[in-house]
Amino acid sequence: MDILVVGGGGREHAVIKALKKSTRAGKIYALPGNGGIAADAECVPVKATDIAGIVEFARSRRVDFAVVTPDDPLVLGCVDALEAAGVPCFGPNKDAAIIEGSKVFSKNLMKKYSIPTAASETFTDPAAAVEYLRTASYPTVIKADGLALGKGAVIVNSFDEARRTVQEMMVDKVFGASGERILVEEFLTGPEVSVLSFTDGRTVVPMVSSMDHKRAKDGDEGLNTGGMGTVAPNPYYTPEIADVCMEKIFLPTIRAMNAEGRTFKGCLYFGLMLTKDGPKVIEYNCRFGDPETQVVLPLLRSDLLEIMLAVRGGCLNADMVRFSSGAACCVVLASDGYPKKYATGYPITLPAVGAHEDIYIAGAKLEGGQLVTSGGRVLGAVATADTLKEAISRAYALADKIHFENAYMRRDIGTRALKALNAN
Ligand code: AMP
Ligand code: GLY
Repeated sequence: MDILVVGGGGREHAVIKALKKSTRAGKIYALPGNGGIAADAECVPVKATDIAGIVEFARSRRVDFAVVTPDDPLVLGCVDALEAAGVPCFGPNKDAAIIEGSKVFSKNLMKKYSIPTAASETFTDPAAAVEYLRTASYPTVIKADGLALGKGAVIVNSFDEARRTVQEMMVDKVFGASGERILVEEFLTGPEVSVLSFTDGRTVVPMVSSMDHKRAKDGDEGLNTGGMGTVAPNPYYTPEIADVCMEKIFLPTIRAMNAEGRTFKGCLYFGLMLTKDGPKVIEYNCRFGDPETQVVLPLLRSDLLEIMLAVRGGCLNADMVRFSSGAACCVVLASDGYPKKYATGYPITLPAVGAHEDIYIAGAKLEGGQLVTSGGRVLGAVATADTLKEAISRAYALADKIHFENAYMRRDIGTRALKALNAN
């Protein structure tokens, strides 16, 4: 089967490498891919948001299957357009992708179907939002309704900060139309867990849990980023908690989407917080997480393409999805300065990759055959092992063998997870 993968980050590199292992995989195209993905797929310079261009390419090459990974094409209806053109897809249609595309939609869904989440109020008028925030308790959380490159949730510690955030989102429109509506949300505390799941709209099969490290600096300090590293499994996510999540969150969400006429097929990502009152949903994503995918897929023992075809065909069952009992760690190497200003264009030296190791390229391009940095998050160094401790030490050993001039990485990916594991 010839397969088209829409996207061009580290997550897509991990998806492509997993698909390549399938006995049924033929040629793999990445639109647009990147300089590192080019080693594993044919990269075609069509932007992930150029829906017409993607459809035209898929038809002209008669691809057999498409995997749409990033949020924007999903929310824009890329799957609907490809399916209408006769190309079977893995990924939710536009009606279902709204679960990530609109935080107001997902919050209303959770309220209507009693799915545990933070209490919140929705505002379309900045003055009303400011009035409400005047008497709110702090910290509180302000979220832009629409997609905002992962930067749409702001934790504010005072009324002054809250007022400034409302001004930026609703009046200055720093996130464009995404900030026309906002949510003001109760601040929750507890360990965070990412659970990616496969669902065909009937059956939901959670993948191994994971833990993201969103802040730029060690000790969870500094600015929020797209993710500086991940580990899997997440030690806070015990089998007992997993059972509660299945019963109170995963199945109710799938049923709620069906009841709304928005059947979700694809990878549904549950961003959870384990509060003292039980697990609550912080966010839904309509796609694989990045960099969660880089630790989850290396632990998958089953054939990813077969699973994706079953999801599309509505015949998914839990036996098809098997994970190894080991652990994985991904350390992201970024350009120093990320997520603010950073320089790019530096040559990257990659070591030979051993068994149980991999390097997923996110922000790099080829210049005359040489891989050079081109983005904030440049790549992820990944290792799997029997234990989390070993996976972390191997991922760092691999990361230390990768060189480019302004490389920056956190040194504490997995430290908190190890502590939690030892405390259990
Ligand atoms: P989101 O963009 O919704 O994923 O939020 C980004 C990050 O903000 C999350 O990973 C949490 O760390 C934090 N966050 C979001 N909502 C809340 C909340 N209600 N309480 C506490 N932290 C939150
Ligand atoms: N790692 C968080 C996300 O993919 O949104």
